Amino acid sequence: MSRVYNFSAGPAALPLEVLEQIRDELLDFHGAGMSVMEMSHRGRHFAAIAQQSESDLRELLAVPANYKVLFMQGGASAQFAAVPLNLTKPSACADYVNTGIWSTKAITEAKRYCKVNLAADAKASGYSTVPQQAEWVFTPDAAYVHYTPNETIGGVEFPFVPLPPGGVPLVADYSSSILSRPIDVSRHGVIYAGAQKNIGPAGLVVLIVREDLLGRGREDVPTVMNWTIMAAHDSMPNTPATFSWYVAGLVFQWLKRQGGLHAIESLNHAKASVLYSAIDASGFYRNPVAPGCRSLMNVPFTLPDARLDTLFLEGAAQAGLAGLQGHKLVGGMRASLYNAMPLAGVQALVAYMQEFQRRHG
Ligand SMILES: Cc1ncc(COP(=O)(O)O)c(C=O)c1O
Repeated sequence: MSRVYNFSAGPAALPLEVLEQIRDELLDFHGAGMSVMEMSHRGRHFAAIAQQSESDLRELLAVPANYKVLFMQGGASAQFAAVPLNLTKPSACADYVNTGIWSTKAITEAKRYCKVNLAADAKASGYSTVPQQAEWVFTPDAAYVHYTPNETIGGVEFPFVPLPPGGVPLVADYSSSILSRPIDVSRHGVIYAGAQKNIGPAGLVVLIVREDLLGRGREDVPTVMNWTIMAAHDSMPNTPATFSWYVAGLVFQWLKRQGGLHAIESLNHAKASVLYSAIDASGFYRNPVAPGCRSLMNVPFTLPDARLDTLFLEGAAQAGLAGLQGHKLVGGMRASLYNAMPLAGVQALVAYMQEFQRRHG
């Protein structure tokens, strides 16, 4: 068996220990005589998985007691629609901050359900920075303010948590940076995150919502997107994504064994610093993001000549470095350094980059 260092932006690398545990438990989960995939979500084994995973996630993120934690389906994109459906009436207005491709997608979807005001847009910088909050133009009485703390494609991360005026709830798409460092949940009304980066298998989405925001939406929110119904049924008004949920639970336990979010944040800083320093010192590779807004998780970079890209990727594959091709919309390279990527993987990448530069620079 040979496993590569997987820099894919998502679905992304899972911790090896977690994969091994899944393998060991696959045929007979804790004496049930069946796998988690095969068991009823109403039975005692799955009830224990659901309860433990929620309590571990609450502990990791220090989720206050007045927040519900939901395990939903449809990925983060389903929440692009669910957010306006659950938080607005059709005539209401929501504020959005556009920092790149994922915020744009959230905005496009929200416009189908409510009025959208662009409180700030980083377009002028080519989406290489985060606009200072002092420049944002809020709508008085907006239903919520939405932002994307980490733009997975552009590699732009907010260096601050926005503070909407007058208690307007803050909604965050934390898909690509959740669990990479501690966050202050209490500053947010809603946090959602697709699982396939730092949580587990794709399709699952974790949503954390302050209780007083439940029931603010419209009557006709589809049942499986309705946060109030989800919360009332412990995320199980229908069959949940049981296996993905179970894997997410194993990842939470793994994170706790790593020492929790402060410990993983230190490691993530060490990893990112090794790669950004190598890029900046190279005079060959380039990262376009303003230094104060560089993502801890997703590091896009270009080579001086795009004609070298294929050669770079082929050599990387031979060196056991996978998933480095940039998003098709922006080209270039991108190294995603989620929690499961060890420091050794980043060091191997940097060694390969230096060798490639020596040969082709
Ligand atoms: C920041 C962000 N938001 C939303 C999504 C969409 O997630 P999904 O494909 O699970 O719907 C992604 C996917 O990569 C993302 O990175």
